[in-house]
Amino acid sequence: MIEDDGAAEPAAVRRAAGTAESSRANRHWWDGNADEYQDEHGAFLGDARFVWCPEGLDEAEARLLGPAASLPGRRVLEVGAGAAQCSRWLAAQGARPVALDISHRQLQHALRIDDARGRPGLPLVEADACAMPFADGSFDLACSAFGALPFVAEPVLVLREVRRVLRPGGRFVFSVTHPFRWALPDEPGPEGLTVLSSYFDRTPYVEEDGTGRAVYVEHHRTMGDRVRDVVGAGFRLLDVVEPEWPDWNEQEWGGWSPLRGRLVPGTAVFVCEREKTHGQG
Ligand SMILES: C[S@@+](CC[C@H](N)C(=O)[O-])C[C@H]1O[C@@H](n2cnc3c(N)ncnc32)[C@H](O)[C@@H]1O
Repeated sequence: MIEDDGAAEPAAVRRAAGTAESSRANRHWWDGNADEYQDEHGAFLGDARFVWCPEGLDEAEARLLGPAASLPGRRVLEVGAGAAQCSRWLAAQGARPVALDISHRQLQHALRIDDARGRPGLPLVEADACAMPFADGSFDLACSAFGALPFVAEPVLVLREVRRVLRPGGRFVFSVTHPFRWALPDEPGPEGLTVLSSYFDRTPYVEEDGTGRAVYVEHHRTMGDRVRDVVGAGFRLLDVVEPEWPDWNEQEWGGWSPLRGRLVPGTAVFVCEREKTHGQG
């Protein structure tokens, strides 16, 4: 929850929220909450690690983007990059990442980390993932760790944009809140283990200020919806990874916790590939 320009505490409601309203609300929310987010989660994320989710699945072991030897020289787009921790890890592997985010403040944290490390800054792009400022086929790979896709009204717009800017055969791997989580309250303790709303209810979660203006929006897709979005945007779905909660991880992150993580999935990672054009095998 955030304070909205001195106004009353936002109220949580379930109501429709379209593409423009969701983008505006989330840009505002992430700008206002980036400092707290990086303060709270920066150590777990690491300045130059690639962590897919609160379960702690690390790309250095998971290799969902492909084997280590395939990364050097690859042009990689990170969507909803936040402070670009994943991009920094990719750069250290020899890849050529570009980190895109809608939030100016999140990208300022990326600059802060680069400055503190005394390394050349990563290429950062402030833009909405629903309309990306890149030419067709600009990237070999794309990735997103909880970036943009849980927050946009029409994830198929983002998926189509990623498909457009990827070369044929390029891979896109993205993590999102596991669709099952929608039915449970966002609580890490036992109260987070009771189904309180329908898994099938796609009505967005909206926090709005006293005037009814959305200041934070999250959208829900069922597992079937996510698969249809991926395939409908022109990707082949290669895998869906549901990371299990590891014994070493004792941290809580919102509703993610060791208690809940050992019982039900919290994250889904979709591994997709842009279909090759005719004649490319
Ligand atoms: C949960 S954070 C994840 C950031 C980073 N990947 C990480 O793991 O810390 C979600 C990010 O998505 C960004 N975001 C939300 N909506 C977006 C949109 N429509 N286009 C681009 N980025 C967006 C937010 O600004 C935020 O930085």
